[in-house]
Amino acid sequence: MAHLWSGRFAGDPDAELFAWGSSFRFDRRLFEDDVRGSRAWAAGLASAGVLSAADAASIERGLKEILDQGFSDPDFVNGAHGDEDVHAFVERELVARIGDAGRRLHTGRSRNEQVAVDLRLYLKRRIPVVQRAIAAVVRSLVDLAGKAGDALMPAYTHLRRAQPVMVAHFLLSHGAALRRDVDRLDAVLREIDELPLGSGAIAGTSYAIDVEGLARALGFSRIARNSMDVSGDRDFVSSFLHAASLGMVHLSRIAEDFILFTSEEFAFFELSDAVATGSSLMPQKKNPDPLELVRGKSGRVIGHLAGWLATMKGLPAGYNKDLQEDKEALFDAEDTWLGCLAASAAVIAGLRPNAATTTKAASGLLLATDVADYLVAKGLPFRDAHEVVGSMVRRLLSEGRGFDDLTLPQWQEHSPLFDDDVRNVITPLRSIEKKHTPQSTAPKAVAAALVETRAWLDRLELE
Ligand code: ARG
Repeated sequence: MAHLWSGRFAGDPDAELFAWGSSFRFDRRLFEDDVRGSRAWAAGLASAGVLSAADAASIERGLKEILDQGFSDPDFVNGAHGDEDVHAFVERELVARIGDAGRRLHTGRSRNEQVAVDLRLYLKRRIPVVQRAIAAVVRSLVDLAGKAGDALMPAYTHLRRAQPVMVAHFLLSHGAALRRDVDRLDAVLREIDELPLGSGAIAGTSYAIDVEGLARALGFSRIARNSMDVSGDRDFVSSFLHAASLGMVHLSRIAEDFILFTSEEFAFFELSDAVATGSSLMPQKKNPDPLELVRGKSGRVIGHLAGWLATMKGLPAGYNKDLQEDKEALFDAEDTWLGCLAASAAVIAGLRPNAATTTKAASGLLLATDVADYLVAKGLPFRDAHEVVGSMVRRLLSEGRGFDDLTLPQWQEHSPLFDDDVRNVITPLRSIEKKHTPQSTAPKAVAAALVETRAWLDRLELE
């Protein structure tokens, strides 16, 4: 078969090596983006007077037909012709349909900028899909918060009981991280919002293409700054991979929390049977496999980011074939992320909070900070209050008791500032009710945060 560059060569390329270096088996994903970019380019060439109106019309008709066939016939974009890449595929199909006019399409254009525009167009349509999938996980957290109602649980630092919080507050903490992932993808969308076409292979194009008009036609708001930069720039791929990596880190941490909290040791939540698996040997097991897979797959996406940065770091200016490695990393990161988002949403949707267990775990010595605050309210400096309560904790631990077992005289052995009211105020509920700030676990603050998060979700789902 003839290649896009056959003229320069006396012989054919080695078939195996050519197949090995070809990207069509994965860059066919860019099919609709490639056709879209080519339709705009043909229109740009026609306005510049480079293509006759008749040629431009037949290119437009041919590309439209190719696109329709690509959508209607799943076998069409299948690589049976041994095309080097998606750009070669579309051009070959075009020439097969319309002959010579198709051979004029590539005038003034290079695959180096074509792949850059295709990838940008691809991400522009795929990022909103990922953002909606992230929102679905936030929605599942908010719904679970609704099921948890007023239930309390311990919040942990160093994986040791720290202070009581509302279960809803814990769930919204993961929602907050996921919302940053949506914002981070907005930043990637802003980064890719520039037209690379007009850059040629590296030096620009000699034809009077109206790049501003082309940018508008393809939905870009600005033109790339420098044609040499365009040729070798895949920063936006690393930005997406970073967003994906951090997104996966967040999902992995959610998975880790629910793996712990659904274990027999915690039993804070119960996994639905539909998302758990059993053991072939131990009849009692109910394993959280989907959560473990989410945690495990985060390593793979982080690997794509690290691998891609390593691929870029030694490249001389301009296009180098190494850059073709961007696509498998990008596509696999996207697929893995989307799969893990769907799995996470499904697992969270099936969780049942065990309010009795979480609330019981939220009382006891983790009220120590509230006891110190009680003394502060009576005028004791915080540092002294901390000392007093620290020694109370030491005593209670050695006696195997809690704050609520102490009689008033026993309280007062530690400080004369303790009054009869102490036994009513040192409770988990009072602890959360005393919290003041909007980002705290105060029931009012959590209720407001739930309302705000639901409004955010509604806005995002409308877009
Ligand atoms: N398949 C190539 C890639 O993904 C397209 C660009 C080819 N450019 C070139 N000069 N060979 O990078």
